Amino acid sequence: MAKILGIGNVVLDIILQTPHFPHEDEELRAESQRYEVGGNVCNSLYVLQQLGHDTTIMATLAADTAAKQLLQGLKAKQISTDHIQRFIKGQTPISYVLQSRQTGSRTITHFRDLEELSFDYFAKAEIEQYDWLHFEGRNIENLSGMLKIARTFLTHQPISLEVEKAREGIEALFPLANVLFFSHHYARQKGYQSAEVLIKSVQSLAPKSQLICTWGTEGAWYQSAGGQIQHQPAITIDHTIDTLGAGDTFNAGVIDALINQQPLNEAILSASALAARKCQQQGLDNLMSTPPAKRPLANVKQLNNSKATIVPCDALPHSVILIRYQEDIKAYQNNCPHQDVPLDEAYKIDINPFEKTMKCSVHDAFFTIKEGICVEGPCLQDALTPVPIKVDAKGDIFLAEA
Ligand code: FRU
Repeated sequence: MAKILGIGNVVLDIILQTPHFPHEDEELRAESQRYEVGGNVCNSLYVLQQLGHDTTIMATLAADTAAKQLLQGLKAKQISTDHIQRFIKGQTPISYVLQSRQTGSRTITHFRDLEELSFDYFAKAEIEQYDWLHFEGRNIENLSGMLKIARTFLTHQPISLEVEKAREGIEALFPLANVLFFSHHYARQKGYQSAEVLIKSVQSLAPKSQLICTWGTEGAWYQSAGGQIQHQPAITIDHTIDTLGAGDTFNAGVIDALINQQPLNEAILSASALAARKCQQQGLDNLMSTPPAKRPLANVKQLNNSKATIVPCDALPHSVILIRYQEDIKAYQNNCPHQDVPLDEAYKIDINPFEKTMKCSVHDAFFTIKEGICVEGPCLQDALTPVPIKVDAKGDIFLAEA
C-alpha cells in the first residue's frame, strides 16, 4: 500500500446513455442518466484506492451545492479531501457526457470557470508524507512551480505527469516527471501521426523519464529511460460498454504496478488489462470484482412460472425480466415497446397462467411469455427485446454473447 497524492481537477460528470450518438439538431431520448465524481486524476485515484492504496486529492472546489455533492462522492470513494482549496467565485466544473450504447464511445462537453489550484496552496502541503505524486498536465504556470518544489523536496518519491492536451509551455515540465503519460490527443495536436513518433521526439526533452503514449484500440507505446520503444497491443474485448475514464484507469494501473516494483513492460500489460476490464462495465465502481458480464443474473431456483422476476443488469440499458416457461427460461429487457417504460412501472407484472401472457402495468399491453409478442393492447404485434441467456450446471443464469 502506498500513499498517493493526486493533483488535478474534481469534476461533476453528468452521464447520459443514448442509443447512438445524436445527429446535429436531433431530439433524442436518453436511456439513463447518472451523476459521477470525475476528472482525470480523480478517476485514477479512485482506481488506485480500489487497488489498495491510500489516496488523497488536491484540487479546487466551488461553494455551490454540486461541490457538496462532490465532497460526499469523494468521501464515499474513500479519497481523502484534506487538501481542497475552496473558492467562492465560480461554479463546480461540469462535464456533460454522451455515452453511445452502440459503440461505447463517450463525448464530453466540459464547462469550467473555477479558479485553478494556486502555487501557494500546494507549497503549504506536506508532500514528503506521500510515496507518489501524480499531476494533471493543466494550470501550467502554477504547475511549473509545484513540480519544481516537488523535485527539490522529494528525495525518492516518483512524480508522474499526465499530458492529455497541448498546452503552452507544458514541454518544459517533462524533465521534472519520472513517468510521463501522453494521450493520442496531445500527439495529434502536436502534429505527430503515431505514438512512436511522439516518443522519439520527446525523448530528448526528458531523457531520464519513462515515456508512455496510449493510442486507443491500437494499444500503448512506451520507453524506459535509455531503452527501446516498445508496443503493447490493446486487449481485445467482445463488447465495449463504457470508455469514460478508461485512460485514467490505465494510468492508475501503471502507477500501481510501478509502485509494486514491476518492470515497465509488465506494468503496461497489467494496465492494459485493467483498462479493458473498465471498458466492459459502466463507471469505475467495483473494478476489481467480477466483470458484470460474468456475474449471474439469478439462479433458476429463484424463478417460477407464475411470477416475473426482475433483475438489474449493468451490461444492458434496462433491467431483465426472467420467467419460467414450461421447462425453459425466458428473458426479456424490462422495457415496454409502447412507451419505453419498465413493465412494472405502475405495478407488478401480472401473469396469466392460462393465456400464458404477462401484462405491462402501465397501459395493459399483454405479451406472450413464450415470444414476448404483444397480443392485446396498445402496441399490438410489437415485441419485447429478448435477452440471450445461458444457464450453467449450478443453475446460474448468465448473459450469453448475442
Ligand atoms: C474522463 C474525465 C471525466 C471528466 C473529463 C475531464 O477521463 O476525467 O471524468 O469529466 O474527463 O476532462
